Amino acid sequence: MKIGVPIETKDRETRVAVSPTIAKLLAGKGYEVVIENGAGAESSFSDDEYRNAGVTVAGKEAAYSCDVVLKINPPTSAEVAMMKKDAVLISLMFAQSNPTLLGDCSRAGVSAFSMDAIPRTSLAQKMDVLSSQANLAGYKAVILGASVMGRIFPMLMTSAGTIKPSMVVIFGAGVAGLQAIATAKRLGANVWVSDIRPETKEQVMSLGGKFIEVEGDASVKMEGGYVKGVSEEFLKKQQEAVSGKVAMADLVITTALIPGKKAPMLISEEMVKKMKPGAVIVDMAVEQGGNCALSEVGKIVKKHGVTIVGETNLPGTLPLNASELYAKNISEFLLHLCNDQKQFKWDMKDEITAGSLILKNGEVVHPALATKTPVA
Ligand code: NAI
Repeated sequence: MKIGVPIETKDRETRVAVSPTIAKLLAGKGYEVVIENGAGAESSFSDDEYRNAGVTVAGKEAAYSCDVVLKINPPTSAEVAMMKKDAVLISLMFAQSNPTLLGDCSRAGVSAFSMDAIPRTSLAQKMDVLSSQANLAGYKAVILGASVMGRIFPMLMTSAGTIKPSMVVIFGAGVAGLQAIATAKRLGANVWVSDIRPETKEQVMSLGGKFIEVEGDASVKMEGGYVKGVSEEFLKKQQEAVSGKVAMADLVITTALIPGKKAPMLISEEMVKKMKPGAVIVDMAVEQGGNCALSEVGKIVKKHGVTIVGETNLPGTLPLNASELYAKNISEFLLHLCNDQKQFKWDMKDEITAGSLILKNGEVVHPALATKTPVA
């Protein structure tokens, strides 16, 4: 089986789907790997490193004409058109909101697995790119926030006086949020956290954060490890509980998400107006509609004296680590899907395969998408 790894062409993307270490691992297992020239350059992986790993470095066409194409971002129409019929694409697809990609893959007659559709189960943990990338993003959100703030995180006693520790408020104690808590604590801040899943309280406290309690959490519905829904009444109570903390915060990081839904609006313009001058908000959910009413996609803006960061590719600001982790995840996934003869098993009884297979030979087969018409 020949595996192609092209350059990521999305604007401001710095990552690559396969690192030299993982290329070597796949080559060692008998897969033939073709990396596009310069694909690892922005992640600090030179073409020579790939060559030394025992794989081929070649042009774009060579990478796209392989049996399997491994990517991070969904390919463009032109990129899908370069794939051969019956080839297999493995990348993030966000297929629910990407009918153009479904149409492109359908026309090209390719099969496609979506990395963002891999179920969040224990068995699939090592393939979970959303978690590996969100983990890094949670770390970087704190570092970015700290670099924009005009004050330090820890308490500092000096002969010129004592500096009080900064107050950080974090919304959402999922993968990104927990890493943000740990990072902010390590830097010495006081950290307050809000999440609608009551079981997160223990995790928050074990990292040294303080949990903002809200009554009536019985309305929170869970499914497959994710929140599925929450009552309006509960969200109103949450708003009341957090608004005082947000007004006192030096840095607010928002990571709140309910999969498949627009990001919940948690920080209104009124709340921003009440924040301290010089405070900072990093809205990690900006691409899903934002947790803050005033955040702007891909921009750092200042509103009512508060700096609001809307960076959409935080993992891409740490390309070396982000590529290494993504490569590990995608190789585990590929090896899970294939048998010892290096052929796809297409085992639809396997929940990882069934959950992530979007198209088979150009036909949309995912149950959640089968009724959607690909864009012609
Ligand atoms: P996750 O699903 O692990 O965590 C989300 C958390 O939000 C859950 O604990 C959930 O209970 C909580 N939540 C839901 N509604 C809430 C509410 N109303 N108030 C408080 N908490 C609430 O998700 P993960 O992987 O941590 O990602 C978080 C967000 O960060 C997502 O929107 C994701 O797309 C985004 N992200 C952004 C990146 C960037 O570069 N800007 C990179 C990676 C992730």
